Amino acid sequence: MPDVVNEELKAGFRLCRVLGIRYPIIEGGLAHVGNGRLAAAISEAGGFGQVGSAGRSPEQFAGEIDLAASLTSRPFGVNIPISERKDNTPYFDVIMKHRHRLAAVSLSAGNPRPLIPRFKEAGLRVLVLTSTVGQARKAAEAGADVIICEGFEAGGHNGPAELTTMALVPQVVRALRSDGHDVPVAAAGGIASGEQVAAALMLGADGVQVGTLFVATEECEAHPAYKRRLVESGDESTVVIERSQGRVTRVLRNPFSEKILELEKHRPSMEELLPFIVGRNNRVAAIEGKIDEGYMNAGQGTGLIREVRPAGEVVRELAAEAARALQRGPVLAEWIRTGADVYRI
Ligand SMILES: Cc1cc2nc3c(=O)[nH]c(=O)nc-3n(C[C@H](O)[C@H](O)[C@H](O)COP(=O)(O)O)c2cc1C
Repeated sequence: MPDVVNEELKAGFRLCRVLGIRYPIIEGGLAHVGNGRLAAAISEAGGFGQVGSAGRSPEQFAGEIDLAASLTSRPFGVNIPISERKDNTPYFDVIMKHRHRLAAVSLSAGNPRPLIPRFKEAGLRVLVLTSTVGQARKAAEAGADVIICEGFEAGGHNGPAELTTMALVPQVVRALRSDGHDVPVAAAGGIASGEQVAAALMLGADGVQVGTLFVATEECEAHPAYKRRLVESGDESTVVIERSQGRVTRVLRNPFSEKILELEKHRPSMEELLPFIVGRNNRVAAIEGKIDEGYMNAGQGTGLIREVRPAGEVVRELAAEAARALQRGPVLAEWIRTGADVYRI
């Protein structure tokens, strides 16, 4: 095998090396439902769990970090959606206080540049969520340790360019390589099976970040009715709300999100829309279980979710399925190389 291929293969494990994990599978920050028990279960299984800060007070955030730390000695991180609140200072204080127990912080929804050096100096790895080549380049230049490329198949807030995972990941990988950046890339958005993990690796990613699939796990604090809805959902079960405000938020289709879409047809002002899209309405459905009275984030891969399972089992199965899918590679490579099927006829 030519050296260049071997080099690429070695590089494929960069994400695991950077985060100190066994499988290249990251749990995305999950507003309201990214609890400590879930993060710990994912890390215990060899993935990278993250405690979410969105939808929690600084005290609750600290409590979930403590809980995760009490349940696993493996690396895990935290997520900060930068522009979701006016002042992140109390959350940054929690992170600094817990920095000896945290491996990384992931930054999304805002400009990460001024924050990256600060967290790196504190000994943390910094993961940056991006949804375009330009953002990925800027994040790499600013010193991000991992670039997450999220296509708009993803659950929750997405980039307004609406690039798909399939199109975005290889463009980011090629751009970073041509700039000479050695930073690992994780693909996110719509990934809920091992075959997709294998596909992400084939696109040049070093691993994946997964959100919706981890909501449908036993350890996730999401209400059982939300998890059930994910299991029952199919390929057409998600919709994008907030486009009227130049934002892209993927949620489950339900009477509440249909009501939002109806309102958005009439180009509402932000003041008119805000009472519907506030975080409280996410909580009502996702935590309190009144699933038709609020909205629930979900990605397009939800049709692949068949049951609610322990998170560790999900991590191990994603990895095993990916390995099985990758075994098709040599045969496919031979067909493509030789055109065997056509010429045998
Ligand atoms: C319930 C839910 C809540 C989310 N909350 C956040 C968040 O607070 N911060 C963030 O950076 N991303 C958030 N996301 C995005 C995820 O971290 C992840 O990138 C995304 O879910 C990947 O796509 P998938 O849902 O198709 O797997 C959320 C996604 C879901 C499904």
